Amino acid sequence: MAISKRTVRELIGAAMAVRRNAYAPYSKFPVGAALLADDGSVLTGCNVENSSYGLSCCAERNAVAAAISCGKRGLVAVAIAADTAQPVAPCGACRQVLSEFNPRMTVIMVAKEGLTKTARLDRLLPYAFGPRQLRADNKKK
Ligand code: THU
Repeated sequence: MAISKRTVRELIGAAMAVRRNAYAPYSKFPVGAALLADDGSVLTGCNVENSSYGLSCCAERNAVAAAISCGKRGLVAVAIAADTAQPVAPCGACRQVLSEFNPRMTVIMVAKEGLTKTARLDRLLPYAFGPRQLRADNKKK
C-alpha cells in the first residue's frame, strides 16, 4: 500500500504531538510514535518511564498496545519522533513487537527539525522471528 505524502505528514505530526505527553523524567528523552492502520486511522503512544527503570516502556510499544486495544491489527507504517538532531531508530525490542504485526511496515524516523529517515522494518530487523515460524513448526507436531 502506497502512503501519500499527506498521510506521511499527518503521521509525523501525530508522533511529534504525542511526544509532548511522554513521561520521561529519568532519561529526559521524550519519544512519540504514531501508527497508521490499514483503515487510515492513526494510533499513538509515548514513552512511559518508571522509578523502577526496567519497567519503562517505549513509545512504539505503547502505540502498538493502543492500536491492538482499538482492534487495529493491520499496521502499515509507524512514525517515531524524538527531540534529537538526527532521526532515532527503534530499539530492538520495539522492532520485534512491530514486526509481529507487519514485518514490512514502513518506519519513518523523525528528528527535531522534521528531518526524516525512512526504512522498511525488515531491513531494520532481518531474519525476524515471527508468528509464521511458530505456525510452521506447530504443523509438524
Ligand atoms: N525510547 C523510546 O521510547 N523509543 C525508542 O525508539 C528508543 C528509546 C525511550 C525509552 C526510554 O524511556 C528513553 O527513550 C531513553 O532510552
